[in-house]
Amino acid sequence: MKIKNICCIGAGYVGGPTMAVIAQKCPNINITVVDINEKRIKQWNDPDVEKIPIYEPGLSAIVKEARGRNLFFSTDVDKAIDEADMIFISVNTPTKTYGIGKGMAADLKYIELCARQIARVAKNDKIVIEKSTLPVRTAAALKNILDNTGNGVKYQILSNPEFLAEGTAVQDLLNPDRVLIGGDIETEKGREAVNALVDIYASWIPKENILTTNVWSSELSKLTANAFLAQRVSSINAMSQLCEVTGADVDEVARAVGKDSRIGPKFLQSSVGFGGSCFQKDILNLVYIARSFNLQEVADYWEQVIIMNDHQKRRFAANMVQTMYNTVAGKKIAILGWAFKKDTNDTRESAAIYVADYLLNEQAEIVVYDPKVTEEQIYSDLDYLGSRSGDANRQAVTVVNDSIEACEEAHAVALLTEWDEFKELDWQKIYDQMLKPAFLFDGRRLLEPKAKKKIGFEFYAIGN
Ligand code: NAD
Ligand code: UDX
Repeated sequence: MKIKNICCIGAGYVGGPTMAVIAQKCPNINITVVDINEKRIKQWNDPDVEKIPIYEPGLSAIVKEARGRNLFFSTDVDKAIDEADMIFISVNTPTKTYGIGKGMAADLKYIELCARQIARVAKNDKIVIEKSTLPVRTAAALKNILDNTGNGVKYQILSNPEFLAEGTAVQDLLNPDRVLIGGDIETEKGREAVNALVDIYASWIPKENILTTNVWSSELSKLTANAFLAQRVSSINAMSQLCEVTGADVDEVARAVGKDSRIGPKFLQSSVGFGGSCFQKDILNLVYIARSFNLQEVADYWEQVIIMNDHQKRRFAANMVQTMYNTVAGKKIAILGWAFKKDTNDTRESAAIYVADYLLNEQAEIVVYDPKVTEEQIYSDLDYLGSRSGDANRQAVTVVNDSIEACEEAHAVALLTEWDEFKELDWQKIYDQMLKPAFLFDGRRLLEPKAKKKIGFEFYAIGN
């Protein structure tokens, strides 16, 4: 089965970069990425390729190469579905904010809308691929909708979860540790569909790195991978608090532990807490699934990863207040970094939002600088929490375009995203312009403590 036309529904952090890389590597396949968000599609089509809506190192060059050749961005969802042999569903699956499973389960309404739209439009057989992260057994629901409301068209449903991390998306897509494809491998038609997708990835990925499984294993593996990764961060963050009270250093502990080849050195960086659109959402979903099967202990075990992460964000902010003589009311605090990690403009679930909210509740005045996040986004993140009115957020929070300016006359600086440029700042100049004592709180362990203390900072790093 040769695939000529692909449609990807959802032009977000996954759909956009993933399709750009497939388009670059498979110039003979036409790919149309569609979205109902007109603004987003307009940005993807911006003649100035640096203005595409997602910042990822290396992405704009790939889009520049493929866009208009075999990569297209459009709001005409019906047309793209109609023309496609293969449809990736890459829409958002956020945590439900209403009804049964509120605050825990994944909200599948966008997925279901896609399925119904495909069923309505499709006139020939199609391979439908779950690219979004979904609860195990969602494929069964998808198939049910497609088979029962369709036009007699035959569908093969594959699960092909995405493992890219933001900030390194392009590299992760070009050289993935593995690609996972779940399909109905018991039937010939199912195997054909799986092989069609394997062939696409095999254009640039060694075949031994392309794993094929049944659909349920593939769906569950994605949730499992994110749970294991987040668990490592919560584990080292739990140790960071123990380090602070015992005089151990969490980086030294991480290095010693990570040298054990069974544990490995990656993902042991202690921080102010993990953020991003995936970890919390996917673990909550896992906990919900376990509870719905009555697996209480399994659910409680994974829920603790989230509890630890919330604690880490809260205790970082509480420590700031306590260190600054138990009050930050009316004090200017500079926040360096708003994105949930470096090299992305994504702020979803960023620890910075929660730290800022905590400090605002203590009546601090906040000035934020982030190299890639817009003022509009920062206010929208704070407004979304609903802790105070939009006006109150705009009164208490200022967003600036320069780190030095952010720190002028500040009582304290909180470094919350590990952007490389923060290492190179003129910290002496920052110190000179701050009120004294000048407090510096490093939530990422990015800065060298001795040098900062020598300048005169009251320096605090997580896990030290
Ligand atoms: P996103 O919010 O950036 O993008 C999703 C897009 O889908 C939005 O632009 C939205 O407008 C669009 N959309 C929603 N419903 C639609 C519909 N019916 N028709 C057309 N467009 C529609 O989300 P994302 O970060 O790209 O994540 C997408 C999925 O991939 C989620 O399930 C997520 O868990 C998973 N995932 C994300 C990452 C990541 O790093 N962000 C990594 C791996 C997996
Ligand atoms: C994650 C998974 O890594 C990826 O495989 C999946 O597809 C999507 O979810 P992402 O959230 O984009 O990717 O970034 P990731 O690098 O995993 O970082 C998540 C959060 O954990 C960030 O806030 C990061 O700063 C934090 N983190 C990560 C730590 O605090 N310490 C670490 O050692 C690693």
